[in-house]
Amino acid sequence: MLIDTYGRVATDLRVSLTDRCNLRCTYCMPEEGLSWLAKPDLLTDDEIVRLVRIAVTDLGVTEVRFTGGEPLLRPGLTGIVARCAELEPRPQLSLTTNGIGLARTAAALRDAGLDRVNVSLDTLRPEVFKTLTRRDRHQDVLDGMAAARAAGLTPVKVNSVLMPGLNQDEAPDLLAWAIEQDYELRFIEQMPLDAQHGWKRDGMITADDILASLRTRFALTPETAGERGSAPAERWAVDGGPHTVGVIGSVTRPFCRACDRTRLTADGQVRTCLFATEETDLRAALRGTASDAEIAEIWRKAMWGKKAGSGLDDPDFLQPERPMSAIGG
Ligand code: GTP
Ligand code: 5AD
Ligand code: SF4
Repeated sequence: MLIDTYGRVATDLRVSLTDRCNLRCTYCMPEEGLSWLAKPDLLTDDEIVRLVRIAVTDLGVTEVRFTGGEPLLRPGLTGIVARCAELEPRPQLSLTTNGIGLARTAAALRDAGLDRVNVSLDTLRPEVFKTLTRRDRHQDVLDGMAAARAAGLTPVKVNSVLMPGLNQDEAPDLLAWAIEQDYELRFIEQMPLDAQHGWKRDGMITADDILASLRTRFALTPETAGERGSAPAERWAVDGGPHTVGVIGSVTRPFCRACDRTRLTADGQVRTCLFATEETDLRAALRGTASDAEIAEIWRKAMWGKKAGSGLDDPDFLQPERPMSAIGG
């Protein structure tokens, strides 16, 4: 079991498969990209599967999410999914992606054993998409989502970040569209995890702002009534249901007290939190002579050191060295 000193148990493993991405979202990374991890530093497919196996069989992990960067850029993704789907007890397997390339891969991923996907989409306007992501790929994302829905990778959840002056006014349109398409929409507060360190609290659209904007067009009633367990999203029924909308208020409504996550970076470091300032190296152990039991013990010790919260409200808060794309979203 991965338990920390606050009694929280991590059953949800998030694995970053690459730090690379084919978009350049302004709240994430600069136009020129970042200095990517070198190939020898990345965990191999075998190493990833071994760590997931240890997590599932020895450490009580029940859900595995593959992230990035953009996880569809990892050539071995389908094989990794297939091998993780054979583990006993079988974990829930999901993917968080920007959707580019999903149109081609959704059916194969489902056949490999993937259960569901979350796709990022911040705008319905191709021009705004181009400004926000610095790439002209809006239609690819829409096609990817539709393919995921057709393949039964459901519920397809959509993640939207609202940015002032760009897509700030789009919340109601996005919700109307998501309902029509049968996607589950969630809005995410922008977090200080961008490579450029340009985040400002007073420049951020808050959960309250998002709810006020949605209420100009929809009646929202709480589904999770203030208690959302370990799920980052608080959910509201829209116009009496059955459709819902979520808000992930990581900054103004943090859920750290119930956090059930442990993370692995693409270069094999355990992170206890998105905002952790320390990492624990599993890659060295993997590439040395460590047994599964020894690796499990290193992981347990790392999680025991998990802090109470993100520290975002501390006066001396420091943004983590690694940006979101390298940590795994
Ligand atoms: P499901 O609802 O089970 O699909 O999971 P999820 O919402 O955690 O998945 P997803 O990968 O789509 O994450 C959505 C957003 O939640 C991320 O972009 C982050 O903004 C936020 N998030 C994910 N994990 C954490 C975390 O550990 N801490 C905080 N503060 N936010 C997180
Ligand atoms: N703040 C909030 N969400 C972010 N994402 C990427 N960077 C940030 C940030 N700084 C989102 C993406 C994607 C999810 C994995 O994380 O839009 O939906
Ligand atoms: Fe790529 Fe995701 Fe970062 Fe956008 S937010 S640049 S899709 S890693």
